[in-house]
Amino acid sequence: MTNVQFAGVYLVGAGPGDPDLLTIKAERVLRQCRGLVYDSLVPQEFLDLVPNDCEIQFVGKRRGHHSFPQSKINTILYQMSMRHVCVVRLKGGDPFVFGRGAEEAAYLAAKGVAVEVVPGVTAGIAVPAYAGIPVTHRLAGSSVTFVTGHEGIDKRRPSVNWQALAKASDGLVIYMGLHNLQFITEQLLIGGLDSTTPAAVIQQGTVIGQRCITSTLSQLSNEIQLLGIQSPSILIIGDVVKYQIEECCPQPANVTMPIDF
Ligand SMILES: C[S@@+](CC[C@H](N)C(=O)[O-])C[C@H]1O[C@@H](n2cnc3c(N)ncnc32)[C@H](O)[C@@H]1O
Repeated sequence: MTNVQFAGVYLVGAGPGDPDLLTIKAERVLRQCRGLVYDSLVPQEFLDLVPNDCEIQFVGKRRGHHSFPQSKINTILYQMSMRHVCVVRLKGGDPFVFGRGAEEAAYLAAKGVAVEVVPGVTAGIAVPAYAGIPVTHRLAGSSVTFVTGHEGIDKRRPSVNWQALAKASDGLVIYMGLHNLQFITEQLLIGGLDSTTPAAVIQQGTVIGQRCITSTLSQLSNEIQLLGIQSPSILIIGDVVKYQIEECCPQPANVTMPIDF
């Protein structure tokens, strides 16, 4: 067991929503921290774990408001680390999976602040599992790619090569892909994926309000619109979706999660 009398910033993964998916180590550091900086997709229950005198700062996105710029979050973290011995930066899922955790760690380390990562359960694995969908399968998925669906929207940034991914990976688990799904689908079809490839979307996985729709690659986008599926959602494309076992789904936790963040 680690002694958490640590002078620095813990970059902690909060898991995908179900509070029971917090790791024991994450709980231990939360119970001892003097400063907490947290994001939108973090279960509110975790704020109750920190000591009463802990300084708490929210830096996520509220409905209808812009996100905090990354530079501002970095500054908040640095300043908090100057005021308190043990600071927790709590992020949804895992801090190093599409969470800008590495940028924050590098910024703090460059300023001489000690940083330690506490990995979390990432949505890309836990959310399909709560819907009974395995992300790999001996008969259908020997490879899986975790990919962000957000990049193609902003053409100024390098975007994912969806056409190449169509053939390179048996399964795709797409974070933040909802708003760009039509583009992603077109690219995957051009890249050689069959229009009947099984596909699924899971909204608000692991918590109350969880919804899972299974379909085909070419139909998924329409069904999402028709059924009003919203963020946060995970998309899964590939034959693994055929191996969904509904009997093994855990009960989603009776907690809510912000939508449309
Ligand atoms: C900025 S990324 C952060 C990912 C996080 N670091 C992780 O490891 O899970 C946020 C995206 O993760 C996915 N996500 C996170 N929690 C989710 C949940 N409970 N249900 C469905 N998707 C979720 C959604 O695609 C959402 O847009």
